[in-house]
Amino acid sequence: MPATTALLCDLSASDYDEILALWRRAGLPVRGEGRDAPAEFARQMARGIQRVIGFREDGRLVAVAVLTHDGRKGWINRLAVDPAWRRRGLARRLIAEGERWFVQDLGLEVWAALIEPHNTASLALFEAAGYQRSDILYISKRLRPGA
Ligand SMILES: CC(C)(COP(=O)(O)OP(=O)(O)OC[C@H]1O[C@@H](n2cnc3c(N)ncnc32)[C@H](O)[C@@H]1OP(=O)(O)O)[C@@H](O)C(=O)NCCC(=O)NCCS
Repeated sequence: MPATTALLCDLSASDYDEILALWRRAGLPVRGEGRDAPAEFARQMARGIQRVIGFREDGRLVAVAVLTHDGRKGWINRLAVDPAWRRRGLARRLIAEGERWFVQDLGLEVWAALIEPHNTASLALFEAAGYQRSDILYISKRLRPGA
């Protein structure tokens, strides 16, 4: 696999279409009428508790992660790498940049991610980065379907 020259970048609401297209290429579900809708995405960006980072190769977005925090923990969300650019360390580098941001800029010493049990690639990735599984069950409630 050739080395990548992809450049780390901060993304903004103006990159929305590219981010959604990448999530779709990577197989992540997109809630286009809910929290991934353009206006909602712009609102999340404006709140100041979210940073979206990615890698561009020749200008094309090939990896993305949404970093958020709740004041206690840093969260790595919606991490996705273009299928053609996997196993070159891009996700590992996005996680490392997330951790750098959490600890150096925000003073947060606990970092977390939610991973579906069948997602073996993501589990392997985070475990290789030093994250430990827990038996905590994720529960959630939605105001409306598709939110
Ligand atoms: C999970 C995902 C983000 C990994 O991206 P990636 O850029 O290929 O990962 P990296 O190259 O940084 O991998 C770093 C390490 O993670 C582990 N890893 C990554 N993908 C793996 C896989 N498919 N199988 C086993 N281990 C894997 C390996 O230890 C790897 O190191 P190595 O290549 O030296 O063996 C990518 O497969 C993806 O986008 N999947 C679909 C979307 C998704 O499920 N996102 C996660 C939501 S929680």
